[in-house]
Amino acid sequence: PRHSFAHRAQKQKVWSPQYRVQPQASFKVAILGAAGGIGQPLSLLIKMSPLVSTLYLYDIAAHVKGIAADLSHCNTPSQVLGFTGTSQLANSLKGVDVVVITAGVTAKPGMTRGDLFSINVIIVKTLVEAVADNCPGALIHMISNPVNSTVPIAAEVMKQKGVYDPKKLFGITTLDVVRVNTFVAQKKNLKVVDVDVPVVGGHDGITILPLLSKTRPSVSFTDEEVLELTVRIQNAGLEVVEAKAGAGSATLSMAYAARFLESSLRALDGDESVYECSFVQSDVTDLPFFASRVKLGKKGVEAVISSELQGLTEFEQKALLALKPELKASIEKGVTFVQKQA
Ligand code: NAD
Ligand code: LMR
Repeated sequence: PRHSFAHRAQKQKVWSPQYRVQPQASFKVAILGAAGGIGQPLSLLIKMSPLVSTLYLYDIAAHVKGIAADLSHCNTPSQVLGFTGTSQLANSLKGVDVVVITAGVTAKPGMTRGDLFSINVIIVKTLVEAVADNCPGALIHMISNPVNSTVPIAAEVMKQKGVYDPKKLFGITTLDVVRVNTFVAQKKNLKVVDVDVPVVGGHDGITILPLLSKTRPSVSFTDEEVLELTVRIQNAGLEVVEAKAGAGSATLSMAYAARFLESSLRALDGDESVYECSFVQSDVTDLPFFASRVKLGKKGVEAVISSELQGLTEFEQKALLALKPELKASIEKGVTFVQKQA
């Protein structure tokens, strides 16, 4: 199967404003945290999707209603509605096929994603409880950090509510793939649209492991290049946090990376060749959750591709061993948080 999203995206003109055709499908999407730095550009990109009939924007910030009004003037097929305040949360989720959770606080210079834990886990837990009550069959796309813990939290909440489907819960790590594809193309003078590098592990520091040896098109790297690129990708979030100097973390590249949503919608619509990397429940390692390439289908994860973890270089094998204890601890921290509150 072809794995290059970028290539397919170009062919299919994903996100292209010229792509104003009648919707081939009519999926309902809810974005929780829609008034935020990611939520706003993400909502704009989703408004351009021909696969979306209804876009529900929810935020505790009241101006989300204005954001919905603003977007609703774009002459693309979907209808946009804004919802604010906890009393409107349930209505923002009724009948929804995909829920994107991007609510929460962002890192300031000097903070890790893990530092966001104490505030964001409470927000995420409340939102996922509402998802379980109002649209238990929806796909959940978790953007809120720390993804390594918020995804296990979402799983526990759904389990407690008796509606957990591991195939429908995704931690969004697409930004790591977007970054490595960009950096490799720059370093190797390749056409960026052709480059495809899988990223496995998690979404924080050393848990982010780009498998440079699996780069397509096949390209060779020196040991120094591998180290430099790996460290840059692991710290790319920080690069943006520091450059924004207290004004937040990556928002525009993250919204772009939510091409994952468009991929999910295409898969729901019956496209059988959709692959993306994502942090999902998996048994490709001894950890309960792990990011790797997955095949998306009509019911969410159709298959987790384990073959890319074979034939790793010595550098990648060591990095994989090193990331596991940290990733395991983050997963357990999330699970414990929910279980303690039960
Ligand atoms: P932001 O502060 O600009 O926006 C967050 C939004 O969430 C705000 O509009 C806020 O009002 C809203 N919010 C807060 N509590 C809420 C609640 N209980 N219900 C609904 N809405 C609520 O932040 P941002 O830059 O958009 O980032 C959002 C999250 O995404 C952060 O946790 C950030 O770390 C994470 N992030 C993840 C990735 C990734 O690759 N997965 C990349 C970038 C950022
Ligand atoms: C990113 O990768 O940019 C985000 O996870 C935000 C962060 O805190 O680094």
